[in-house]
Amino acid sequence: MKSVFVFCFVTCQARMEAALKADLAPAKAAFQRPGFVTFKSDRPLDSMFARVAGVTLERLSKEDAENPRRVEALFGAEPDVVHVFARDTADDNERAALEATRAQLAAALPWPNVATENGQRVADVIVVEPEVVYVGAHTHDRSASPYAGALLPLAMPQDAPSRAWLKLEDALHRFQLSPQPGEIAVEIGAAPGGAAFALCSRGLFTHGVDPAAMSPNVLALRHPNGDRLYTHVQKPFAHVGKRDLPAHADYLLLDVNVAPKESGEMAKKCIGLFAKKPRVCLLTFKLGSKAAAADVRAEIARLGALGYGDVRARQLASSHKEIVVCAR
Ligand SMILES: C[S@@+](CC[C@H](N)C(=O)[O-])C[C@H]1O[C@@H](n2cnc3c(N)ncnc32)[C@H](O)[C@@H]1O
Repeated sequence: MKSVFVFCFVTCQARMEAALKADLAPAKAAFQRPGFVTFKSDRPLDSMFARVAGVTLERLSKEDAENPRRVEALFGAEPDVVHVFARDTADDNERAALEATRAQLAAALPWPNVATENGQRVADVIVVEPEVVYVGAHTHDRSASPYAGALLPLAMPQDAPSRAWLKLEDALHRFQLSPQPGEIAVEIGAAPGGAAFALCSRGLFTHGVDPAAMSPNVLALRHPNGDRLYTHVQKPFAHVGKRDLPAHADYLLLDVNVAPKESGEMAKKCIGLFAKKPRVCLLTFKLGSKAAAADVRAEIARLGALGYGDVRARQLASSHKEIVVCAR
């Protein structure tokens, strides 16, 4: 089979890129810029460390990429949807230059730039440098983000105590979870409370474990009957026992700044404190070491051994150095 280039769009973190390359070995990285890596491969590739993946069709100049007929010819037909997005960068000037090209291309290409539906053929138009554009293709399925560059078009409410609000909403959306009012969530590493704010705002009774204090914005949230929606267990998780937690939880969340192995051990211990295992675990793993890809794989296997039949992981645009694992 003829070799193809495959692109993976990753956040601009060296560790994430190292994990991506380790995860896709033996495929070899080819053209790359920070936040954008192509691989030479004779089959499609994807990785939990990539935000978007697809097959590269061509590298174009900005001028050529602005020509819809040129993009259509590469694609072989009119795409159902066009996703125009720029690679990540930590440099503000570079971001502004990439964004200017992105905006011009988005205006020039006539196909809908909307959330995709299952089976739709997407032309990915990726601004890698202000004058260098990669055109790729993927067919949308439910495991991928429907948005260009996997960027959820959602603004944080002003009273959300931390960016973890966005991380949680992104994860719920990406893993197609819809927690319901009255359900119970437990979060390890809950302060200052962005995720708890999102959960309580959805009407979940949320218990957080964290030695740090919670935002008053979370503590103030009430059920329509006047009951508090949030309960804080202000201690490190090592000191938590059954009596500190509700008898069961529908959702277990974990967001602690420790290595994946330690997070996995905390999650396992916490699951064992409930009468039955939580229906869904949403665990954030920080990529701390070079062995990150293997470490996260080991934690995914651990969740499988605990009886979770469907365990997925993904790097989300809202959680730069982290991988979010969803087990159900
Ligand atoms: C990234 S922050 C969590 C953000 C939080 N999820 C939110 O929604 O705002 C990590 C938190 O983990 C907490 N933490 C660190 N070690 C912990 C432990 N052993 N047990 C419980 N919480 C811990 C820290 O105090 C810190 O508040």
